[in-house]
Amino acid sequence: MNIVVVGAQWGDEGKGKVVDLFSSRADLIVRFQGGNNAGHTLVVNGKKTVLHLIPSGILHAEKLCLLGNGVVIDPLVFFEEVEGLKKAGVLGENASERIKISDRAHLILPYHRQLDVLREARASGEKSHEKIGTTGRGIGPAYEDKAARRGIVVGDLLDPEWLAKRLRSALEEKNVLFQHHFGEKPVEFEPLYQLCLDLGKKLNPFITDVRLLIEEARRKNETILLEGAQGALLDIDHGTYPYVTSSSTCSGGALTGTGLGLGHGKTEVIGITKAYTTRVGTGPFPTEIENTNPALAQQIRKVGAEFGATTGRMRRVGWLDLVALRYSAELNGVTGWALMKSDVLSGIEELEVATEYELDGKRIQHFPPSAAQLSRVRPITRKVRGWQEPLDGLSPEQWPETFRAYIRMIEEFTQIPVVLVSTGPGREQTHEIRVPSALR
Ligand code: IMP
Repeated sequence: MNIVVVGAQWGDEGKGKVVDLFSSRADLIVRFQGGNNAGHTLVVNGKKTVLHLIPSGILHAEKLCLLGNGVVIDPLVFFEEVEGLKKAGVLGENASERIKISDRAHLILPYHRQLDVLREARASGEKSHEKIGTTGRGIGPAYEDKAARRGIVVGDLLDPEWLAKRLRSALEEKNVLFQHHFGEKPVEFEPLYQLCLDLGKKLNPFITDVRLLIEEARRKNETILLEGAQGALLDIDHGTYPYVTSSSTCSGGALTGTGLGLGHGKTEVIGITKAYTTRVGTGPFPTEIENTNPALAQQIRKVGAEFGATTGRMRRVGWLDLVALRYSAELNGVTGWALMKSDVLSGIEELEVATEYELDGKRIQHFPPSAAQLSRVRPITRKVRGWQEPLDGLSPEQWPETFRAYIRMIEEFTQIPVVLVSTGPGREQTHEIRVPSALR
């Protein structure tokens, strides 16, 4: 049985918390896309752990966590995270028995990071439409090399001769860009090659054919938890292109990013959504309230701690967008919602929720395919009464009627049940309304 956890909005919905919760009942936890652009803040027993690359299942001592072929790996960040988890007492000397990295996963090397940062810095003035507001971690340039067949995969680090050939070819083109487009110094082959060889030696115990481990688990009918990063609206194919990340963030990415086949067994897809919406970086955002009600945006940001776990950037804030959520449900085949951060809206008298859009004078019910269209959209919102009392400490039976009505509205609009409700950052502030069958 498989269970996929995906972000249903523009990321930062709280996937890490849900993966952490589900992990105790899964056999394998697998990240399938993205890299250290993600940031999962987990609070367990009042202690905060921030993860960027390693799956959130790592906090469960006996679980095996895998980084699939669809992930892009910055080895320097990976080792930093492993060290951090060792210091926190989460990992011991057996780190390489707990985490495995696919030999097919592509590497983020220093020149990818440099390119990402240079491009973003250039996108100002007349070129400001080119600014994506990336995390600057080299994600786009690494995926770009993968598609261009110029990438270096993790397994290449273990074959010095082959690695030298691959690295020379990659640098030949990169250096034209660095020198002639950006006016920077070329990247020298030798020090980078040495760095890669060293990283290969250190990474070796972690590297394996992750797909085989997944296949073994599948044959034994084990529960495989597939952990997504970012969110559906940042998907390279289905998101608000070009203001997206460079990977397949939807549930389809769980297949290509691990080597799992489409027809195997039953899969449940849990879509994670906040009770409102946030977005980091540039790009259209129909229900944004930053301009219409900056004080409220500020309040939600403060109460919800809406600052990026990776970059510390301020997140843009908006109302819940049901048009976008239904789109996301369709793209992902969502079977149940996890509704996060409802506690943040406590005390707001009247809430708004987008149920339709107006585009160029016409009412539409679907999420438009182009970012240009989406930026012209005016959301048609429904006003609903908020819940005045804090939700923390209340059991579902004690929830205020207005909050229950909010949940029903999401279920009725999307025709998908809310299976989990989170009312605070701690593990204990999570209410499982209906346990996904893969985890029973
Ligand atoms: P990149 O993934 O660093 O290339 O950034 C591309 C876009 O995705 C930017 O708008 C980022 O802010 C956004 N993004 C990337 N990762 C995350 C995430 O984990 N949460 C929210 N937004 C993200």
